[in-house]
Amino acid sequence: MKIMKVLFAGYESAPYYKRGGLGDVMESLPKALQGIGVDARVTIPYYREIKKQYHIKKEGEFYVDFNGKKEHIGIYSEKYSNVPFYFLENIRYLSLSRAKDKTKRMGQFAFFDLAIVEFIRWLGEHHKWRVDIVHPNDWHTALIPLILKKRKLEIPTLLTIHNLLYQGVGSLKVLDMLDIQDEEAKTLKRGVPANEMNILGEGIVHATRVSTVSPTYAKEIAKAEHDHNPISPFLIKRRDEGLGKDDPLRHEARKIIGILNGIDYDVWNPTKDEIIFHKFDIDNWEIGKKDNKEDLLRSLGLEDRPTFCFVGRMAVQKGLDILIKAVEKAAPLDINLIILGSGDTRIQASILKMAEKFPWIRAELLYSEDLAHKIYAGSDFIVIPSRYEPCGLIQMIAMRYGTIPIASDTGGLHDSISNGKNGFLFKKGKSARLKRVIKHALNIYKDSIRYKKMVQQAMKKDFSWDKSAKLYKKLYEEMIAVHS
Ligand code: GLC
Repeated sequence: MKIMKVLFAGYESAPYYKRGGLGDVMESLPKALQGIGVDARVTIPYYREIKKQYHIKKEGEFYVDFNGKKEHIGIYSEKYSNVPFYFLENIRYLSLSRAKDKTKRMGQFAFFDLAIVEFIRWLGEHHKWRVDIVHPNDWHTALIPLILKKRKLEIPTLLTIHNLLYQGVGSLKVLDMLDIQDEEAKTLKRGVPANEMNILGEGIVHATRVSTVSPTYAKEIAKAEHDHNPISPFLIKRRDEGLGKDDPLRHEARKIIGILNGIDYDVWNPTKDEIIFHKFDIDNWEIGKKDNKEDLLRSLGLEDRPTFCFVGRMAVQKGLDILIKAVEKAAPLDINLIILGSGDTRIQASILKMAEKFPWIRAELLYSEDLAHKIYAGSDFIVIPSRYEPCGLIQMIAMRYGTIPIASDTGGLHDSISNGKNGFLFKKGKSARLKRVIKHALNIYKDSIRYKKMVQQAMKKDFSWDKSAKLYKKLYEEMIAVHS
């Protein structure tokens, strides 16, 4: 059988440049696909930060017309764990990874999307590598389906949504920059008069298929149709285009598919992890976790107590205010609480205030992969109070390291945790519920037989990418079959 060729595109990819979970997926999903015989490759911008740290070989160049000018694109490439990575360079548009200005960011990624479409041609001409599927991720690359259509390049596209909150809403000028006349984009606007566009929305309308990172989040997105979310008109349009047709396949194809992410077991594996204090596996986890915990607590100046942790970005989505309220209500508690992460300054300040009040709380307000590994290995429980969570990776990582998750019952958390069996779920947004679950978890911790069973169940749960990669492969195959 012919080997399928899939080109991933996105804002970030580990190990080169990572700000969030998308970066992990862009690294590990293509790798897993390569493992099952799909030729998956990745394209991201060649940001200044990447250039400084990695000196990647230049492979070629081409030009695109954007905003009335001829722009140069340099192609840099290398293989990383069996996956070819391509970095597109343009000083004006693709150097800055964190441009503050919204309009600038929209222009930047419109440019990147156009560059990718041209790059697809380039790959065909220079490598005889003819892309079967383009796989854009999130709003940054969601203009690719529209640009492909306008250029009459009939390559099926799968748009994956990792977070519906970020949609790329702003000036319609982006279309002028691309020299695209799209009357539809003007009618599906958010404001009146029609001067704004929604880039993710365009992707939802024009992509061959749309997916997201867990089945439950896919359902939650479908509900967003009825919210006053700016994305609703686009969701409705996508759905309606499938209705009224006799072809049930077509109707199905308009739905948003949920495929749960996995985690990379080469990276997240307590038997091989060089960062944690002591390696361990499911047969000796009791000693392993005890030793890790001892060293972790010593390094943070904490006493030996049941240890809870939080690891993540300080963003409203992550629900730290819910955790703070629950802790305030539950105090005094005979536990440790370790908080690791950085972000929103207001959230950081309230964490520090809480940590000053309770000596058993340690707040490490920084981004540290190293400390994160040590915390996963050395904690007993991890609290994940997210307001919404498309998939979430840390619950899977923590479980692999024998740390029991206490998480909001939403999105991917719902799909990866079985309440009472390998973790705890509570009603999202409710600090009183969280407080109750923390107390309940402590009781189970004391009743050590039940606790041990839970840890074993958590460690055994299979979150490897294999399963999900197969689902993606099947979806690609379907898309190609319908297409040809
Ligand atoms: C985003 C989501 C997170 C998901 C990740 C990878 O960061 O917020 O839930 O796990 O993308 O898909």
